[in-house]
Amino acid sequence: MALFKKKPAQELSIKDIQLPEHIGIIMDGNGRWAKKRGLPRSAGHTAGAQTFRKIARYCSDIGIKYLTVYAFSTENWRRPSDEVDALMRLFKDYLQEAIRDFKDDSIVLRFIGDRSAFSPELLSLMNENEEESRERDGMVLNIAMNYGGRAELVTAIRDMANEVKDGSLDPAAITEELVSQHLYTKGQPDPDLIIRPSGENRTSNFLLWQSAYAEYVIMDVLWPDFTQDDLNQALIEFAKRNRRFGGV
Ligand code: FPP
Repeated sequence: MALFKKKPAQELSIKDIQLPEHIGIIMDGNGRWAKKRGLPRSAGHTAGAQTFRKIARYCSDIGIKYLTVYAFSTENWRRPSDEVDALMRLFKDYLQEAIRDFKDDSIVLRFIGDRSAFSPELLSLMNENEEESRERDGMVLNIAMNYGGRAELVTAIRDMANEVKDGSLDPAAITEELVSQHLYTKGQPDPDLIIRPSGENRTSNFLLWQSAYAEYVIMDVLWPDFTQDDLNQALIEFAKRNRRFGGV
C-alpha cells in the first residue's frame, strides 16, 4: 500500500465524483500528535474524539451511507491502564452526549466488536444508543470497540459450527454470503474505501473479511489534524481508482 500524497486543495471537487457507499477509517496517530506537543497520550485521544465528531457529521452531511470507525481494538487493552481508562471515559462522554444531543439527528449508531469486556455503564449506553437510533433513516455509523477482524471470524466460525452441530446448518450451505451474515456487519455492504491517516501501511486487524476489495488510502496526517479537506482528497483519490474486483 503506497502513501497517498496530498494535492493542492483547489484541485478538489467532490460534487462531480461517485462517492463510496461505505467508508472505513482507522483513526491512527493520536499518540504521536500528543507526543509532538509534549502532552500525555490521552490528550491525543481527546483531540482525536473531536475530529471523529466532525468527520462523522461531515460524512453524514455529504451522503455517505455507512461509516465504520476503529475506536478500540482487541489488542488495545495492552496499553497502560491510565490510557485505557482515559479512552473508556471518552467513550462514555461521547455516548452520553450522543443520546442527549443527537435525538433529532438521522444517524443510526451501531457498535461492532465483543462488548462483554466493557463496564455495565458503558454497555447500557451502547444498548441505549442503538435502541434510540434504530428507526432513523440516515447514515449508519459503526463504532468498532474491542473489535478485531480475526476475533470476529473466530466468533462467526464458532457460531456456524454450533449450527451444524444442532442440525440447523448443512456444511454444504456455508458460502461467502453466509459467512458475511455471521459477522458484526451483517446486512451491510462491504467497505469500498478504507482511510488510514498517520502514514502506517497496515490493516491492523480492521474489517479483515469485509475489506477484501476495499481501496486503501493511506494519508500522511495524524488523526487529530485530519480535516474535511483530507476526507475530500481521499474521496477524489478513491474515485480515480479503477476497481476491477479481480476481473480485468
Ligand atoms: C490509535 O492511535 C487510536 C486509538 C487506539 C484510539 C482511537 C480513539 C479515538 C479517536 C477516540 C474517540 C472515539 C470515539 C468513538 C469517541 P494511537 O494511539 O495508536 O496513535 P499512535 O500510533 O500515534 O501512538
